[in-house]
Amino acid sequence: MAGIVIKTERDLELMRPACTVAGTVLEEVAAFIKPGVTTQQVDEFTAQRIKAHGAKSAFLGYRKYPNQACISVNDEVVHGLGGSRELRFGDIVSLDVGVIFNGFVGDTARTVAVGGCGVLAQRLMDVTEKSLYEGIAAALPGNRVTDISRAVQRYVEDNGFSVVREFVGHGVGRTVHEEPQIPNYVDSKCNHKLRPGMTIAIEPMVNAGRADVKILKDGWTVVTQDGSLSAHFEHTVLITSGKPEILTWPEKKLSALKPA
Ligand code: MF3
Ligand code: CO
Ligand code: CO
Repeated sequence: MAGIVIKTERDLELMRPACTVAGTVLEEVAAFIKPGVTTQQVDEFTAQRIKAHGAKSAFLGYRKYPNQACISVNDEVVHGLGGSRELRFGDIVSLDVGVIFNGFVGDTARTVAVGGCGVLAQRLMDVTEKSLYEGIAAALPGNRVTDISRAVQRYVEDNGFSVVREFVGHGVGRTVHEEPQIPNYVDSKCNHKLRPGMTIAIEPMVNAGRADVKILKDGWTVVTQDGSLSAHFEHTVLITSGKPEILTWPEKKLSALKPA
């Protein structure tokens, strides 16, 4: 893991487009999700979209990770592998896309329903997504990493769900994982001060049941120990001198946000 790297305006000129590609690919892959497609097909579609944008997967080969994207279904938390499993109506699937473009990484994730889903699954996705925005709102200069962690944890636990401990958010830049770590629960050891120019991935992983997870025999797929559903939302975010800037919006959303 590289240390904390403060990005210059020149770095950001390269990194912003990388993050936009990541957000755009994630949106395209989310739209591809429907009953009957296999997770292998989702991974292949991701590869095709990443290539179409002239980028490369930041995950393929990272610590020997064998896929383009992480595709995690239902009780799978993160790092799910593509395979022959067919997505079924009512499943929820967490999609995590990391791309390298211009020498920089963009890292972003979201959970979507396959066709539709039950009320618990929907509430889990809503709470997880909202907890991400609570965390982002706390990503202010002078605040500490613990302020982000507390905001996420509080929102999730107030809504009766639990945050995963074993996996955390992180700095992002020329590599996918830089310092500092950004836990989704308060850890007094992770209390770095936030400074303008830091780019971090905030990524709550939230379980409907207990927080405990285990890793399957494939060495990658993380699942909830109690078999409960899990959701995951992630943005790469820039700490500025004012409000945080979300870097991984898809192209469409970004142009809607730009002043005319
Ligand atoms: N997507 C993870 C993250 O958000 C990293 C995945 S690394 C991989 O930090 F090797 F599993 F792909
Ligand atoms: Co990610
Ligand atoms: Co990440």
